Amino acid sequence: MERLLKSLEPYAKRVNEALDELMAQEKDSLFFNPLMKFMRGGKRVRPIILLLSHEACGGKGNPEPAAVAIELIHTASLIHDDLIDGDVERRGKNAFHVDNGKEMAILAADFILALVLRVASMYENKQVGEVLSWASKRMAEGELLEVRLMREGEPISLDDYLKVLELKTATLFEASSRLGAIIAGRVDLADNMASYGRYLGLAYQIKDDLLDWGGERELSSLVREGDLGFLSELADNFIEKAFRGLEPLEDSEAKEKLRKIAEFAVKRSF
Ligand code: IPE
Ligand code: MG
Repeated sequence: MERLLKSLEPYAKRVNEALDELMAQEKDSLFFNPLMKFMRGGKRVRPIILLLSHEACGGKGNPEPAAVAIELIHTASLIHDDLIDGDVERRGKNAFHVDNGKEMAILAADFILALVLRVASMYENKQVGEVLSWASKRMAEGELLEVRLMREGEPISLDDYLKVLELKTATLFEASSRLGAIIAGRVDLADNMASYGRYLGLAYQIKDDLLDWGGERELSSLVREGDLGFLSELADNFIEKAFRGLEPLEDSEAKEKLRKIAEFAVKRSF
């Protein structure tokens, strides 16, 4: 774990530098300081996956702005998720809405979406914007579906549970790995890379939920106890599928790192 994170540090640094560069134009914004402070705590797993996928697909083109857009979408989703759930802590610190109020928590996501549009407009390739749009839309659908299911409070089927995970979590992992291939100009690898991200995202979230299973405000608490063992098995299957997505890639250090991330995701959460 330590070694893996260490080897990913240069990638996290690239993400952070690109983020600083993009945000440099927003220094006068009221959102600037709150967002920069909140964003400091993340592991950058998704944008790192974008950069690694891009490298594993040959490394042509400019992936950094898209990687930042992915982290921004993730940030907006966390801010809203904590507001909706009434969670007061995130990343060992106050949730965004606790420090900045619910109004700013709502508006921060609008601001972020505008930044994501700016990034999309930087790419000649329309597919970048299409994937970012696809991801934002599906994550909103997933959050709303989760809210509905939580509100009903009835035990949920595995299908319902997986649907939320697919929309809410797997979507952004899928978008990240797909964008890596698209920006590298390897459209032929895009579906395989997308499959890697999607299954990794599903496994990542299942493990995360199983680790803190029992939390009352968690969707996983509505999964029937008898289904839990099955879920753990499912996560292992998903990781196998994630590995399969990497198969058509030529061997490279980046591919090996993507493999390690997937291995790590089943052992424990990040
Ligand atoms: C948290 O994601 C929400 C989930 C989908 C599990 P991360 O674990 O990637 O959060 P940060 O960005 O590193 O805090
Ligand atoms: Mg939630």
